[in-house]
Amino acid sequence: MQNISLAPDGTKYPLPTDAEAIEERKILKSITEEQRKKGRKIVAVQGLGFVGCVMATVVADAVDEKGEPIYYVHGHQRPSPRSFWKIPVINNGIPPVSSSDEEVPEIFHRCVVEKQNFRATWEDYVYELVDVVVVDIQLDATKPAFGEAEKGFCDLYAFRGGIRTLGQHIKPDCLILVETTVPPGTCEKVVKPIIEEEFTKRGIDITKTPPLIAHSYERVMPGAKYVASIRDFWRVFSGVNQKSRDLCREFLSNVLNVKKYPLTELDHTNASELSKVMENSYRATNIALTLEWARFAEQIGVDLYKVREAIRKREGTHDNLLRPSLGVGGYCLTKDPVLANWAMNALFGLEGTLDMAIRSVNINDTMPLHTIEIIKQVIENLKETQVTVLGVSYLENLGDTRHSPSKTLVEFLRKEFALVKVHDPYVEVWPEIDETVVLHDLGESLSGAQVVVFAVGHDEYRKLKPEDVVAMTGGKPLIVDCSNFLSDSIIAQYRKLGCEVRGVGKGHIK
Ligand SMILES: NC(=O)c1ccc[n+]([C@@H]2O[C@H](COP(=O)([O-])OP(=O)(O)OC[C@H]3O[C@@H](n4cnc5c(N)ncnc54)[C@H](O)[C@@H]3O)[C@@H](O)[C@H]2O)c1
Repeated sequence: MQNISLAPDGTKYPLPTDAEAIEERKILKSITEEQRKKGRKIVAVQGLGFVGCVMATVVADAVDEKGEPIYYVHGHQRPSPRSFWKIPVINNGIPPVSSSDEEVPEIFHRCVVEKQNFRATWEDYVYELVDVVVVDIQLDATKPAFGEAEKGFCDLYAFRGGIRTLGQHIKPDCLILVETTVPPGTCEKVVKPIIEEEFTKRGIDITKTPPLIAHSYERVMPGAKYVASIRDFWRVFSGVNQKSRDLCREFLSNVLNVKKYPLTELDHTNASELSKVMENSYRATNIALTLEWARFAEQIGVDLYKVREAIRKREGTHDNLLRPSLGVGGYCLTKDPVLANWAMNALFGLEGTLDMAIRSVNINDTMPLHTIEIIKQVIENLKETQVTVLGVSYLENLGDTRHSPSKTLVEFLRKEFALVKVHDPYVEVWPEIDETVVLHDLGESLSGAQVVVFAVGHDEYRKLKPEDVVAMTGGKPLIVDCSNFLSDSIIAQYRKLGCEVRGVGKGHIK
């Protein structure tokens, strides 16, 4: 096995040795004893990814009425070559995620360096020391065929492994708070039996001390309000028994801004789990609807975005109508309806499917093909046509490329033998797509482009002047706007410069 973990900036971190693990356990024990003397409760956050690393800082940042930290937080990250680097990076007070939210580096520095009540580790032993474990590891849905989400399933193998580790180590009165997005039924039918099994093996009487398991899902948005979207936002929770619910309420009330955003308690973990996947399915369905209408609008000369604004004036009932775009990316909307659909049969033995949610995932997954249709309305044969895609992350002003619709766009353009260059100021490497160099120089990216696709609305792209874009291409490229990133006056300037312009949902341009 590779014994080096490579950070995105190219720094190499050797994986820990057995001798370092022994030393680490001593450090963990001594820190914990010291912190308990200060009256602090001890928390572990399992999984220091996009959610866990920032959630860990929010917990560490919580203070009592005297301004003293309530908790000491051990962040736990498995030491795989892919992720181990996060541990030394965090322990230097640096966030392992890039974000446009200035509060992210501030809160890491405050908790790791100034208050020194957050530290990351890879050692499972840490779970023996804590009062609460917040589970923020990933749980994926696998979609075996493109555009056929109905065949999707959830492989619980790694998730079960993470939970089993907790069962092998935690104290019987430790609260497990599952924040991972899980198929409905997971806490009751997967987590609880594993913990009961491991407790029983350890001689713990589960009739006297039943496992304490709660569920509260994250609604984090890793954009400009990354930290606030965890701390200053509504939360839903439940637990497998009354004590779990009480402990969860107390914990969340200590760390979140519940005065302004009171908690919503549901009466069963099935309900809390269902709530998460249903709210994301609702969003996925809302977006899927817009593509159908974007196509219609394009054919009858209508600007769908102006129609959308008109409809959204109906505050309270219609103001959350979403917009069509290149497609839907990110970790959640692309998988959560699949988790729910899979759970119906796999965890509850029910027949039937969540047809509307699954159809929406299929529409959203294949949405980037519509942008290719739009290009082909102007350039029928894309063979050796040079296409520059501006933006490969799935969201504006963010470097996260997971399930980015730009990937589908690039792959299908290449199937048509187009010559594709990609540019993104926020993305260093694009691990999901082989042998694709993400350029950072706009001049190099645009040089020779016959088609320029505005795929993501990064601020840098919105500020581009048409005359500069056209000059950098050295020709009169087809401009394609995937989600109303270009105003009518900018479009008029491109057309004056001799460019054709098209856009998703922009029927009025023709
Ligand atoms: N990213 C988002 O915007 C978002 C929003 C809301 C909810 N969620 C949900 O939160 C959960 C986590 O998402 P994420 O985006 O942080 O995922 P992620 O892949 O960025 O992070 C997961 C981390 O957990 C680590 N990990 C996995 N198994 C482990 C184990 N057994 N022990 C210790 N570490 C382990 C991984 O190495 C990784 O660093 C998912 O269920 C996701 O659906 C994500």
